[in-house]
Amino acid sequence: MTTPAALRLREALGNFVTGITVITTRSEGELHGLTANSFSSVSLEPPLVLFSLSRTADCFDAFERTEAFAVNVLRSDQEALSSRFATKNVDKWTHVGWRPGYGDCPLLDGAVATFECRVTARHEGGDHVIYVGEVVEFAHHPGAEPLAFLRGRYARVAG
Ligand SMILES: Cc1cc2nc3c(=O)[nH]c(=O)nc-3n(C[C@H](O)[C@H](O)[C@H](O)COP(=O)(O)O)c2cc1C
Repeated sequence: MTTPAALRLREALGNFVTGITVITTRSEGELHGLTANSFSSVSLEPPLVLFSLSRTADCFDAFERTEAFAVNVLRSDQEALSSRFATKNVDKWTHVGWRPGYGDCPLLDGAVATFECRVTARHEGGDHVIYVGEVVEFAHHPGAEPLAFLRGRYARVAG
């Protein structure tokens, strides 16, 4: 249950504008993915990024078992994809275009940037676990407009 204090904290945190990512992995042959705005860069040398994964996520166990993940930074017209990967108990993969990357993790069509990562650390983070990954491959489309998130809503950024 989310307490009133936690709701107030979430509201205040919502003032920090973020992009939207879909983090994917492949575990025991199965595809998994979730929408996440906790993605952040950590280090350039070595190249490290992080995201935090809720302990209540259905894909939590799959991520525990995997040694690779992919970060897909969504484009401004990919709101529907974000909503789909933020919804439990739906088929997330039908009619979604992707190709396999490092560790066979799905790289989604249309993403403005992708980061293919090897898991280097898992840290305790309260009701989340913080995943740190070394970036082994990356790509981006200069000029493509990313999807943004502000105060609980999707937003546009003027580039
Ligand atoms: C904008 C947005 C950002 C989110 N960021 C995160 C996040 O950083 N970490 C997380 O664990 N869940 C995050 N979620 C929630 C998950 O996307 C959602 O609970 C998802 O269904 C979890 O995967 P599951 O279907 O395997 O349970 C976010 C949802 C939205 C809409």
